[in-house]
Amino acid sequence: MSHKRIGFATRLGAIAATVGSAVGLGNIWRFPYEAGQNGGGAFLLVYVLCVLLLGIPVMLSEFIIGRSTHQNMKGALQTLVPGKKVYRLAYICITGALVTLGFYFVVCGWVLQYLCHAVTGEFSGQTSQEYGLLFTRLIESPWAMLLWTWLFMAVNFVVMLQGVQKGIERIAAIMMPMLFVLLAVLCANSLLLPGAHKGLQFLFNIDFSHLGWHGVVDAFGQAFMSLSLGIACMVTYAGYFNDETSLSRDAFTVAGLDSLVAIMAGVMIFPAVFSFGMQPEAGPKLVFEILPAVFQQMTGGYIWAILFFLLLLFASLTSTISLSEIAIKFLIEEHNLSRKKAIILTAVLSTILATLCALSFNVLRHWTVFNMNLFDLLNYLASNVFMLLGGLGAALIVGWLIDKKVIQRQLAHKGQRSPRLERYLIVCVRYVAPIAIVLIFLQLTGII
Ligand code: PFF
Repeated sequence: MSHKRIGFATRLGAIAATVGSAVGLGNIWRFPYEAGQNGGGAFLLVYVLCVLLLGIPVMLSEFIIGRSTHQNMKGALQTLVPGKKVYRLAYICITGALVTLGFYFVVCGWVLQYLCHAVTGEFSGQTSQEYGLLFTRLIESPWAMLLWTWLFMAVNFVVMLQGVQKGIERIAAIMMPMLFVLLAVLCANSLLLPGAHKGLQFLFNIDFSHLGWHGVVDAFGQAFMSLSLGIACMVTYAGYFNDETSLSRDAFTVAGLDSLVAIMAGVMIFPAVFSFGMQPEAGPKLVFEILPAVFQQMTGGYIWAILFFLLLLFASLTSTISLSEIAIKFLIEEHNLSRKKAIILTAVLSTILATLCALSFNVLRHWTVFNMNLFDLLNYLASNVFMLLGGLGAALIVGWLIDKKVIQRQLAHKGQRSPRLERYLIVCVRYVAPIAIVLIFLQLTGII
């Protein structure tokens, strides 16, 4: 069956949707706590190197696979590498997308609950300990966790039903710039807090003593998570790009803005952490404990808090939309489902996973693997296994398997080839990325 080709209406819309996918909880919630647990500056350095040497080349690879075929991952691989079993990588990517959705929706639920707290003025007049309790009370209540997670999911899938152009593009093009401006305001506020310099020192001073191998693995996983790589998201979105878009310009823009937002999140959080005498190693609850304290001391904090959680909610939504779209496009094209049926099936599968994750802090807290509850496990597997594995696959396919002419044509802009760009891509995807990712896996499995 042939499918009507849909696409983003404008270049700005395409960029906004792609940045919208990349910028999300990964930058604002995950990056600060990962950096906090892994010693700050050294983690940031490995992260930035990973974005330059692995992230951008893998993103370009996914763009090439997606835009040259305008298909979902499985169809694209069947077209580009016919007669081989390479297309099976798509199954790993789709599973990775569902695993990511499973835990990600739960964090989106937290954001929704915090927006509600901001509106009802819950943050005012509390101590730091009480902000901690607020978060603990939320995760220990199964009904509250389910309610907020499901509510967010309902919004996500209703937006999905609106289709690619109306739903995704419009929201992203308005909300992303607003989030950016608000983050800048919050960074300025944090920098003015007493003792702010200690936070900056933590974030920018490079000290490898707290990093270790596990920190390097986390930095790699974080870079892939933040750039939405390795689970065919960028293949799916590039399928909606038009043929004139410059892939390299888009990849550098997306990676640049995404990293900037992560660093801004660090500048917003760490000065506050040190100024309020809190611990940078607090883990996933870090941002949810710090931010209410930040808003409380700001003039007009009530309004800033509402605005912030609202925009964070939209940033999360543009990411969950892209995550859902991976499975939806696959189901429509490979299993001939209508868009509506594909959305329903994706919603059902992700609801099962998200429900189990939401309950893994309370009713199911005893289900643990390697000392991790289901939420932590999926969070870990998504970035450090699925995304790295999918990224390795995409790099090897573009580096070694597909026709060079496809790469040249896709990287060319307005008919002009760019040999330097081609060389950078080929060296990175043939050698640098595969060697680095294989080393990471050897380390993960304890072989080195
Ligand atoms: N990059 C998103 C974030 O930083 O929040 C998360 C994400 C979206 C990961 C889409 C993977 C993906 F395919």
